[in-house]
Amino acid sequence: MRIEGKEYRTIWFENNVVKIIDQTKLPHQFLIKELKTVNDAINAIKIMEVRGAPLIGGTAAYGLALAVQENNDPEFIKKSAKELIQSRPTAINLKWAVDRMIKKLTEINSDQLLNIALNEAKEICDEDEKFCENIGINGLKIIEEIYNKKKDTVNILTHCNAGWLATINWGTATSPIYHAHKKGIPVHVWVDETRPRNQGANLTSYELNEEEIPNTIIADNTGGILMQRGEVDMCIVGTDRTLSNGDVCNKIGTYLKALAAHDNNVPFYVALPSSTIDWDIKDAKDIPIEERNSEELSHVEGIDENNEIKKVLIYPSKSKAMNLAFDVTPAKYVTGLITERGITKASFDGLSKLFK
Ligand code: MRU
Repeated sequence: MRIEGKEYRTIWFENNVVKIIDQTKLPHQFLIKELKTVNDAINAIKIMEVRGAPLIGGTAAYGLALAVQENNDPEFIKKSAKELIQSRPTAINLKWAVDRMIKKLTEINSDQLLNIALNEAKEICDEDEKFCENIGINGLKIIEEIYNKKKDTVNILTHCNAGWLATINWGTATSPIYHAHKKGIPVHVWVDETRPRNQGANLTSYELNEEEIPNTIIADNTGGILMQRGEVDMCIVGTDRTLSNGDVCNKIGTYLKALAAHDNNVPFYVALPSSTIDWDIKDAKDIPIEERNSEELSHVEGIDENNEIKKVLIYPSKSKAMNLAFDVTPAKYVTGLITERGITKASFDGLSKLFK
């Protein structure tokens, strides 16, 4: 997608280094950062220079290729794989991508290990881009249907950033929106700010602006009243891990939006590539929910009058704070899952018909 009119993907390999867009600096500064070692990749995932389930999967894949480039000793690669998987616990795409890389690297015994690793990492990213594009083509039908009935701007609420910045390109939740916009369907997006890291305000609104899609940032607590007033036609969110029974783990606050949508008969869709499905865990209570540093809550970052990024404390200095990063929306509140293979019910039957 575009930034200042120029097309980008979120990650690529060039001159022996991996290049990423540093998302901790957006929207105030657009910086391309180089990852030279597997530790650089692990750190970028941990501090969220890259984030979003599909993109951290892609970064882990390239991270493992960087490990091979540094030292192709099998023990080092194994240790690197383990550290990459542990760098963030909730998004299943990390493990999915690392497992796929390891499988590829162990089934081929060759002095071409680095080329194989780089090709597989690129393949994982190319595939994600294609899948997200297909999610858009499939999800477009829902937006089109609403527009054909309403004959007026379709208002879509989204939470966090499940946009192209969270993937390799297109995004998951945003892909149907980009496709609708390209087709000339008038859309407007309600962007949940998404405290504490403000991925909605800092990233979703930013990328929608760059594509000239009308959007309005709202505080996380505003969606409910907008739904009561009939100002939301549908919700689309992304997910970090969707269980085979259709339960959806996503950014903290998603569950409350799904409850409000249910109470107001607003369709609540979740967009995901198949790399986000966890076929193993059967009970949502077993999903590892990341708890991040409480400083992300107690401090906020912005730019001052000299255009410098500053961080300030906003809580009483003695107060404790708790920062759970994800929650789980039970399948019964999900209208449908929009995947690269089509739209299905959030259920084992629905997912199995498409993917097994
Ligand atoms: O903590 P983040 O910013 O990595 O969380 C991202 C989300 O929760 C997204 O909704 C999810 O990864 C889907 S991305 C297409």
